[in-house]
Amino acid sequence: MTTKAIVLAGGRATRLYPVTRSVSKQLLPVYDKPMIYYPLTTLMLAGLRDVLVIATPDDLPRYRELLGDGSQWGISLDYVVQQEPRGVADAFLVAKEFIGDNAVVLILGDNIFFGADLPSLVHRAIADNRGATVFACQVQDGSGLGVVRYEDGRVADIVEKPVKPPSNHAVTGLYVYDNNVVAVAGSLEPSARGELEITDVNRHYLRKEALDVVFLGRGIAWLDTGTHDTLLQASHFVQTIEHRQGLKIACPEEVAWRMGWISDRELAGLAAGTSPAYANYLKGLLQEPGVP
Ligand code: G1P
Repeated sequence: MTTKAIVLAGGRATRLYPVTRSVSKQLLPVYDKPMIYYPLTTLMLAGLRDVLVIATPDDLPRYRELLGDGSQWGISLDYVVQQEPRGVADAFLVAKEFIGDNAVVLILGDNIFFGADLPSLVHRAIADNRGATVFACQVQDGSGLGVVRYEDGRVADIVEKPVKPPSNHAVTGLYVYDNNVVAVAGSLEPSARGELEITDVNRHYLRKEALDVVFLGRGIAWLDTGTHDTLLQASHFVQTIEHRQGLKIACPEEVAWRMGWISDRELAGLAAGTSPAYANYLKGLLQEPGVP
């Protein structure tokens, strides 16, 4: 048994209309890269190399064009269509064949994580997973998210889009599940908004005492891209770090190279399909001995 990974890039993103009326949200730029590079590299940094991209029938060809079969980055990318935006948990039904009898990590295509500790946290969560593991992060306002409710210091429930959030710990769009998740997703009823809710999957595991909530501390940033303002803020965040440090965030070519999945020569070859600045960055990596 191995662990498969899914990036869910479906949905209509109506909160960004008219921008996303004819362009898939997860293809929009976050500063200098398409949004989907961020969740994809989060998976890669956790060592996950067998990835399924789920998108709408209209958008899927665009993702295939952008990302290819993954071999250029030393990974394997498969694609499958979600005919209707039936909710996050529907991903497991759409991906049933891909998952097979393996465990699975799901990341939402609009979730941006930043922090050196995250790869090892995900790695450990995969190794220690007892059923389901979710990652929670502190937010100012969790009313548009899944939020943890505590009782006596223990996780008592997760509430989806609470009018009055029971805590400021939101559940992020990164999840680790055992193979049972396919059956759990299949047993769900659609919510009031007509979707199969990932929170209902997590509550199922919680009731079975098989849910772990890993809290992401201060050193890890989790950014939202759901509105025009938060999308712009995410771009500024990436720009700020990249300009200051001269290191790119979520550069799949670099991640593949640092993971040892592609050679120096292959890295240099990948510069061809990028802008002069991006290409210089990739070539520059090869000239910096001793960079950690
Ligand atoms: C989904 C989940 C929610 C989670 C959020 C993270 O929300 O339902 O629990 O906190 O992703 O991005 P949605 O994007 O469907 O509104």
